[in-house]
Amino acid sequence: MSDSTQEKIATLQALHAQIQSSEEQALKKQHAKGKKTARERLDLLLDPGSFVEFDKFSVHRCDHFGMDEKKILGDGVITGWGKINGRPVYVFSNDFTVFGGSLGEVFAEKICKIMDLAVQNGAPVIGINDSGGARIQEGVVSLAGYADIFYRNVQTSGVVPQISVIMGPCAGGAVYSPALTDFTFMVEGTSHMFITGPDVVKAVTGEEITFEALGGADTHTRLSGVAHFAFPDEAECLENVRYLMGFLPSNNLDTAPAYPASDPADRCEESLNSFIPDNPNKPYDMHTIIQSVVDDGIFFEVQGAHAGNILTGFARMDGKTVGLVANQPMVLAGTLDIDASVKGARFVRFCDAFNIPLITFVDVPGFLPGREQEHGGIIRHGAKLLYAYAEASVPKITLITRKAYGGAYDVMCSKHLHADINFAWPNAEIAVMGSDGAVQIIFRRQIQAAADPAAEAKKLTEEYKAKFANPYIAAERGYIDDVILPAETRKYLIRALEMNKSKRETRPKRKHGNIPL
Ligand code: HXC
Repeated sequence: MSDSTQEKIATLQALHAQIQSSEEQALKKQHAKGKKTARERLDLLLDPGSFVEFDKFSVHRCDHFGMDEKKILGDGVITGWGKINGRPVYVFSNDFTVFGGSLGEVFAEKICKIMDLAVQNGAPVIGINDSGGARIQEGVVSLAGYADIFYRNVQTSGVVPQISVIMGPCAGGAVYSPALTDFTFMVEGTSHMFITGPDVVKAVTGEEITFEALGGADTHTRLSGVAHFAFPDEAECLENVRYLMGFLPSNNLDTAPAYPASDPADRCEESLNSFIPDNPNKPYDMHTIIQSVVDDGIFFEVQGAHAGNILTGFARMDGKTVGLVANQPMVLAGTLDIDASVKGARFVRFCDAFNIPLITFVDVPGFLPGREQEHGGIIRHGAKLLYAYAEASVPKITLITRKAYGGAYDVMCSKHLHADINFAWPNAEIAVMGSDGAVQIIFRRQIQAAADPAAEAKKLTEEYKAKFANPYIAAERGYIDDVILPAETRKYLIRALEMNKSKRETRPKRKHGNIPL
């Protein structure tokens, strides 16, 4: 080797040593806060040895506020690509120890580069965020950098899955980009998301609020619905990102990976025949039905802590991914309210964008009545779920387990919204409303005039129940394709999915619809 080559190799080695030394400092700082470093997180996320880094020698171009003295190789974000269970993904991971993980021009360019490559190559983007937002010293250039990322988040939406992992105090732009992605993961206790932190809140409104109450994992997975998942520590969080990826296709032209199923496709679950309580007002846990019919009882719930009156999540049927949406009679009697409608709509749209068939389990007494809901815009928000189902062109299978009343019957993937196959169990009650309410409206005068109004109401309610509280009137008209034995549900659902697997639906050309946002 010539002297000059040796010198060049030594220069490269010195740069690597510099990176290694910043790594060691980062490790001490992050571990002291109970957090892992940007690189450790990528090691946990990706298959061992699969990570290929880009732009590790990048540095910022800012000379204000003494920044020219502080140039750190990589500029506070590690970017590149690697594999999850053998499938390529593009990744970035913020280093909070470099200017608080804040984003400047070069940092943004690095992220944009991997996003462009992800779209070009049809692979998901996973971002690990631990960042104070726009780098203040770089001014408008950092705002421009964020907008460049936001633009790409939007253009990438529905082309490849985008996943955000929040692993620190994320503010400003560091939370707007995640909000544009498909799924957001948080860690309990150490990750926070807010537009402005507690100090700014206090200065502007006078309100005192902790980091945790303002934007902790519980706040965002339970109350706001901004995040989808929370886990007790970083390792478990990243393990679950890997797990989620197993349900998803790499891009919108692909199908989700299928796995050989050990659970027989024709497995019967006798217990379901007697599962629905005789009293229609008695709740039951919809999870039990879902777990009884999907492969190996595994249901990966999405937004499990938010709007519990609707369940959303992924499972497999005969080895293939399905998206499940279900009313939950245990919470608010399974009614649709604002949060449930938005949660359901967003999930349906994700599945539709990525070729994941939808199965809907229905037990819904209607929309949640009341001033709060009406003033909050339940009309507009409920319309989102209706819109999402009608818009979805993936295979859509619906099963009514008990109640399907009123507008909520229509909304929950009814035949009229072009569901492909609609099943009902024998207990199903498909009607404009429940028997008691219906009788009080249509026979009010007759009941008031009766010698014994209570007895009259009871008699009329029984008559109404006998006539309408069943699935056969809908089945006579073909709104229900078949009334099935609960025990045989798995077999029927799998056959319906098989029948629809080559479904193609063409719609009139348009730029895009106008979902009621
Ligand atoms: C430059 C930043 C920074 C930022 C933090 N730092 N945020 N440097 N730009 N935005 C630096 C700090 O100066 C500090 O440097 C180091 O990172 C660690 O920060 P601390 O404050 O010591 O950490 P902590 O107490 O954990 O608090 C973290 C934090 C807080 C909650 C993120 O730093 C914070 O509130 N930062 C500002 C958040 C913000 O308002 N960002 C701008 C948002 S506007 P030293 O050298 O002391 O270690 C935005 C617009 C985008 O993003 C467009 C949206 C649509």
